[in-house]
Amino acid sequence: MNIVGMGVDLAEIDRIRGLLQRYGQRFKTRCFTDHEWGYAHRYSDPSARLAARFAGKEAVMKSLGVGWRKVYWTDIEITGGGMPTVNLSGTALQRAESIGVDQVLVTITHTGDKALVFALSLAG
Ligand SMILES: CC(C)(COP(=O)(O)OP(=O)(O)OC[C@H]1O[C@@H](n2cnc3c(N)ncnc32)[C@H](O)[C@@H]1OP(=O)(O)O)[C@@H](O)C(=O)NCCC(=O)NCCS
Repeated sequence: MNIVGMGVDLAEIDRIRGLLQRYGQRFKTRCFTDHEWGYAHRYSDPSARLAARFAGKEAVMKSLGVGWRKVYWTDIEITGGGMPTVNLSGTALQRAESIGVDQVLVTITHTGDKALVFALSLAG
């Protein structure tokens, strides 16, 4: 098992709350899968879980050595409910395959105002 790349990102939960209030469904369609949206909305304030997933997608992009111009946000899914897992599809899966990555791991933490995610892309 080789480490191909790693990434980290920190999201301000208030900023995500603002985007959610301002753009609602448009924010969902552009950035989140149905699973991510549904998981976050199990909580009365979904902002922390959405912030974690937003940061997580950026951390995964970094671990794959690409930015959001090359990969669709919704092609990286970070599951909720226990240990998070990463499901890649479309543009993100293509990128992973092109550099030999067959598994991506993330770990998440959130406080009242920030969500931090670390990602590792692995091969072999
Ligand atoms: C997992 C645990 C260490 C999280 O610590 P915490 O300080 O409460 O919360 P943090 O903000 O640091 O971490 C939250 C993240 O931990 C992750 N997490 C949850 N369970 C996990 C597990 N078993 N392994 C790894 N990561 C886990 C999730 O990604 C969660 O974020 P998310 O809800 O956005 O997906 C803690 O909840 C724990 O010990 N749980 C034990 C399992 C348990 O009792 N579960 C009860 C389910 S009813």
